[in-house]
Amino acid sequence: MTPRSTFIRSLTIILISFLVLSTCTTPQDETALKVNIDILKRGAPIEKYIYGQFIEHLGKCIYGGIWAEMIEDRKFYYPVTWDFDPFGSDNDPHWNTGPYPYLKASPWQVIGTEETISMDTINPFTGVHTPVISSSDGSGKFGIRQGGLGLLKDKSYQGRIILAGDESILPVNIQLLSRANELIKITVNEISSDYTSYPISFNSTFDCDSTVLEIFSEGQGKFRIGTISLMPSDNIKGWRKDVVDLMQELNAPVYRWPGGNFVSGYNWKDGIGDRDRRPPRKNPAWKGVEHNDVGIHEYMDLMEILDTEPFIAVNTGLGTVEEVAEEIEYCNGGPETSMGKLRAQNGREEPYKVKWWAVGNEMYGDWQLGHMPLSEYVKKHNAMAEAIWDKDPDAKLIAVGAVGEWSETMLGESSEHMDLLSEHIYVQELDNVQKHALQLKESIRRVADAHRKYRKELISLSDKNIRIALDEWNYWYGDYIYGELGVRYHHKDALGVAIGLHEFFRNSDIYFMANYAQTVNVIGCIKTTNTKSGFAATGLPLKLYRNHFGTIPVFIDEEYDDLDIVASLDPNMNKITVSIVNIAQDNKSISLDFGTTSIRPDGRQWLIHNSDPEAYNMPGDEPNIRIEEANISLTERTLSIPGYSILVIEAEIE
Ligand code: AHR
Repeated sequence: MTPRSTFIRSLTIILISFLVLSTCTTPQDETALKVNIDILKRGAPIEKYIYGQFIEHLGKCIYGGIWAEMIEDRKFYYPVTWDFDPFGSDNDPHWNTGPYPYLKASPWQVIGTEETISMDTINPFTGVHTPVISSSDGSGKFGIRQGGLGLLKDKSYQGRIILAGDESILPVNIQLLSRANELIKITVNEISSDYTSYPISFNSTFDCDSTVLEIFSEGQGKFRIGTISLMPSDNIKGWRKDVVDLMQELNAPVYRWPGGNFVSGYNWKDGIGDRDRRPPRKNPAWKGVEHNDVGIHEYMDLMEILDTEPFIAVNTGLGTVEEVAEEIEYCNGGPETSMGKLRAQNGREEPYKVKWWAVGNEMYGDWQLGHMPLSEYVKKHNAMAEAIWDKDPDAKLIAVGAVGEWSETMLGESSEHMDLLSEHIYVQELDNVQKHALQLKESIRRVADAHRKYRKELISLSDKNIRIALDEWNYWYGDYIYGELGVRYHHKDALGVAIGLHEFFRNSDIYFMANYAQTVNVIGCIKTTNTKSGFAATGLPLKLYRNHFGTIPVFIDEEYDDLDIVASLDPNMNKITVSIVNIAQDNKSISLDFGTTSIRPDGRQWLIHNSDPEAYNMPGDEPNIRIEEANISLTERTLSIPGYSILVIEAEIE
């Protein structure tokens, strides 16, 4: 940045801070709503786990989102055919909007003639077939290509290609071609009849978000492509750095994985061992391909990078008790156990010590693979729980619930076989902004009320404190802009998510965990393109509250029209935080009365505001919705809360 741009940037920040300050504090206003805050009216501590997240093998959440792999279908799940039609004939605009329509066939196109391509099904490198490329006359280029790769100028990339073939086809060329015909060329000058891995590395000489990658020869003979991988060199153990940076800012304390609906058809053993040899499969629950590049080891790497806790869902749908028991042993067993030994062979000697386990997902739904009647499921759940505790008595189990008969029966018949009960909440779009923003709060309260009722009525709970893990909650509506389920979030959703968090704070005695579903692209709070990433509107309150809201809730008795207000203390009781969400279009004035508690007049504030509830952010563009931080003076002043805003203020207690 030049000195001049630094100066302009500093000036802008000062100006923004001044504007924010002057918007939010005004001299005492007699008409302002009085908000009484008595710091002695405290609730149960807010568990950090309510800021949890959820990542699923679905759409562009992991592959095409957090995972740094740039090649589509790198292990050739789909046969490479002459009639290139990756998107099929599906014209459903709901699914096919945005830059990422989902693939229905191979993204690879043939270079050459129809006869140059075939698929070897007898001796595939991995999966069920491997492309064989052959030319008998050496009269031109023959190979395969795919488009849509994103390259950034001066950025470094690295990967590998696994090839087998005849020396007569050398060199094998790997070529990257920009829309403006700029070219990067890498040549492989060796090959043998056995599959061998050859490194790829280059610095990009151009910016292009739709680069075409070609792998071809101009010689005579045959070669096979086992697989190819390409990632930006700044990937962190295979995870995309820019996305990981945003996840660090989000600072979620726990991540649920690998599903969701996905888990009920997932075989965890597909995701271990040599990554290149792991078989690609059809995603059992969703539209895409499961490349099996991300399995237990990669997920645990991510947890370590983010310094967060794992929360693994096991397959109680199509999965068996034995498979689940093995998975627990694989993660947590000592290296002397048979699965622990396998884990050590795969590079990790130390047990992972995973504590949180989701025993199944939404097994009540007929969309769930392996769905069965409740009476059957109770037995399967209990057998699973016993097998898990047999392998690891310290495992904390989250059972499948759904308010109504399902939760009631699970709590009645499996209360000895769980630590927490899962619930899920998804809400859609309502025309009226205020009603739209209140939906999550209402659902969160409804679920809490139902559980309070179960506690009173069920004998099985008389000596137990089974709290709720709301391990999926969010808005879910609109077109899919960011791949499968890749909805766009608006400022009005951010208001609703903030108020949803407020409701967890009010019910902190009963909500133990909540996992915002999901983190990246797919109904997620971070959105990406193939080179850019940024927070969607809903990511901002999640990040703001996680990093700045206190942990001891202070009850505010009164309710206010269009304002949702909560307060909290930090664990040392030195600081008070007050958060106000204004869901009305117009500004509101409030005056805070802390009673006999003396508050230092100089505080901090964080504001998320946009006068347009439909506003949204685009990854890579200057954000329309952001968190603005400023100093605030609380002496003899009234707070003016801008229309459609989230305001968090923090002050020290004297
Ligand atoms: O989060 C998307 C899906 O919603 C999950 O896979 C499933 O559990 C829920 O129905």
